[in-house]
Amino acid sequence: MINLILFGPPGSGKGTQAAKLVEKYNLLHISTGDLFRYEIGNSTPLGMEAKSYIDKGELVPDSVTIGMLRNKVEANPEVAGYIFDGFPRTVPQAQALDQLMGELSTSISKLILLDVDDNEIVTRLLERGKTSGRSDDQNEGTIRNRIGVFKSETSPVFDFYAEQDKSVKVQGVGTIEMIFDRLCEEIDVFV
Ligand code: C5P
Ligand code: MG
Repeated sequence: MINLILFGPPGSGKGTQAAKLVEKYNLLHISTGDLFRYEIGNSTPLGMEAKSYIDKGELVPDSVTIGMLRNKVEANPEVAGYIFDGFPRTVPQAQALDQLMGELSTSISKLILLDVDDNEIVTRLLERGKTSGRSDDQNEGTIRNRIGVFKSETSPVFDFYAEQDKSVKVQGVGTIEMIFDRLCEEIDVFV
C-alpha cells in the first residue's frame, strides 16, 4: 500500500492536489475536514459538536477526530492506499494513525508538506471564502487563528514523521500542475 499524509497549513492546496493524486495513483482520499462538514450538513450530534470548534478555527478534540477517522478507514479496507488530508493535526492523532496502520499491517509511506507562506494563505482563503460557503473562510481573524493552530499544534507532526525519516517539504506555490509534478516526484519512488 501507499499511504500518504498530505500536510500543510489551511489553504496550502491539500484538497486540490489530493483530487488529482487519487486519479493518478488510485488511492482513497480521506479529508477529515470534509467528513466534519458532511456531518454538519446532516446536523448529526458529531457534526454539531465539531461545528462549535470549526467556526472558531480551533481543533476538534482528538478523541472525536480519531474515532471518525478510524471508522472511515475501517469501512474501506480494500484499497491500494490512503491519502490523509487534514489528518493528523496533532501528535496524539499521528500516534493513533500509526497504531491504526499497524493494525492493518501497513504503515505511513511519507508525509509531504506543501509549503506556503502566511500572507499567501490569507489571500487564498479569503478568495475561497467567496464561494466555499465555509464559515471558517470568512474573516481574516479566524484564518489567522487557524494558521496559529497549525504552527503550535500541527507542525510538530512534521517532526514526528521526520524522526521516522518520512517527512519531506515541497514548494506549494506555483501552478497546480507544477505543484502536482513536485508531489508525483515524491510519490513515484513507491510505485
Ligand atoms: O482540513 P480542513 O481545513 O478542511 O479542516 C477544517 C476544520 O476542521 C479545521 O480548521 C478544524 O477546526 C477541524 N479539523 C480538526 N481536526 C482535524 C481536521 C479538521 O479539528 N484533524
Ligand atoms: Mg481541505
